Amino acid sequence: MSNRCVVILAAGDGKRMKSNKPKVLCEVLFRPMLGWVLDACQKADAGDICIIKGKGSELLDTYLDGKYETVMQNERLGTGHALMQAASFLEAHRGGDLLVLCGDAPFIDAETIRKAYELHVSGGYSATVITADLDSPYGYGRMLRSDDRIIGIVEEKDATDDQRKIREVNSGAYWFNVNDLLTVAPGLSNDNRQQEYYLTQFIPLLLAAGKTVGGYRAETADAVLGANDRAGLLKLNQIAAERVIRRHLENGVEFVSTDGVLIMPEVEIGQDTVILPGTVLKGNTKIGNGCQIGPNSLVENSVVGDESVFNASQCYESIIHDHVKIGPFCHIRPNSEIMDNVKIGDFVEVKNSTIGEYTAVSHLTYVGDSDVGRNVNFGCGVVTVNYDGVHKHRCVIEDNAFIGCNTNLVAPVHIGNGAYTGAGSTITKDVPEDALGIARARQSNIEGFAAKKLEGRKRKV
Ligand code: UD1
Ligand code: CA
Repeated sequence: MSNRCVVILAAGDGKRMKSNKPKVLCEVLFRPMLGWVLDACQKADAGDICIIKGKGSELLDTYLDGKYETVMQNERLGTGHALMQAASFLEAHRGGDLLVLCGDAPFIDAETIRKAYELHVSGGYSATVITADLDSPYGYGRMLRSDDRIIGIVEEKDATDDQRKIREVNSGAYWFNVNDLLTVAPGLSNDNRQQEYYLTQFIPLLLAAGKTVGGYRAETADAVLGANDRAGLLKLNQIAAERVIRRHLENGVEFVSTDGVLIMPEVEIGQDTVILPGTVLKGNTKIGNGCQIGPNSLVENSVVGDESVFNASQCYESIIHDHVKIGPFCHIRPNSEIMDNVKIGDFVEVKNSTIGEYTAVSHLTYVGDSDVGRNVNFGCGVVTVNYDGVHKHRCVIEDNAFIGCNTNLVAPVHIGNGAYTGAGSTITKDVPEDALGIARARQSNIEGFAAKKLEGRKRKV
């Protein structure tokens, strides 16, 4: 295959978004629009990538983390000007084909890119424009055709009333023959209403040079959609969210209502799992079969096994196995592993800990930096005291242990198999197997003390 490369136009500032960050970093389903575009390029195997950046480029650089070549466009003089900032990148790819994409049109997909490329090659075109038919084409460049051949693209602002009625629009994505593009590039001018160097001017320039131009109509109009302001961004979020949910419905996932349900595209969900309202599933999350997730839950970069219930809770970077019951109001923090048949009840926080099978942590408890065995019972209000202000230490709680209510386990401490701790104990020393660790003042009652006190106090009732 010939050498291919990609230039992504991403120098737009967030002015109409009213954002301090570059527009392409505004997010659709929790991922910057540019991330969606990069993902499509990778899936389409579209070749080396160069990104045109502008105002706010530091934030863009941070996001890109040095993974891609970038070029600065210091003045925003139009899409054609933006592309030509990559002139030396293009020189290095002479003899190949160039894909140009807009960083603010996140729904361009690998299949559209691939199919447009096939047409570009089979038609022997110097440029192939990816187009779509829109019901409301307002704001987009319109495709001008004669005898079905593309003869140009006219911007909304430059168009006549008749041209504005054309529904076929320019997506802003194109394949170009690099040599032909570089040959005609010196002819680019800013002779138009907006006094910008339009990338679309390459079409008449190529035609004038005796070259041919193709048009690939995207199968779904979504592929061209972009966002210029917050309302546009919200619309893209809604479209993306619905699209993901539709795919899960087809796979046998149940949604009683989709209110407030946001699922990132890479999330996997098994069949017969029910997703309740207000559930947000992010990152590399995988949910098994027959689970119930939600309402009002967030799971990020985590794995949940089969038949587990996760109710009104949050979980990050952790693994929850099968038949586990979590919630309501639990916080599972990173690096935790909750084994089969565990029950974690209300107001429990688990961090960087393993909880063994059949263990119950039912209420108001913090388990941090701990290795908890099987069939352990935590009373209400247990705290692992894992931080001495300088270092974190681990607690080990062996199988079948019974931790009394309001126990403080001051780490590092080891509770042996089957051992008990007395309610209200502050345990600082290991408790051996089968023993009772009790560490609190013994109760003594002072007879008549209260009655004397009461004399000095006014009885209100
Ligand atoms: C452009 C197309 C239009 C098409 C539409 C699709 C031109 C002249 N018009 O219009 O035909 O229908 O996209 O969305 O190309 N950018 C830069 N530097 C610049 C200007 C723009 O990097 O100097 C980037 C923007 O960040 C954006 C992309 O290029 O990612 C498109 O620019 P934008 O100003 O949104 O172009 P449109 O007016 O929408
Ligand atoms: Ca645009």
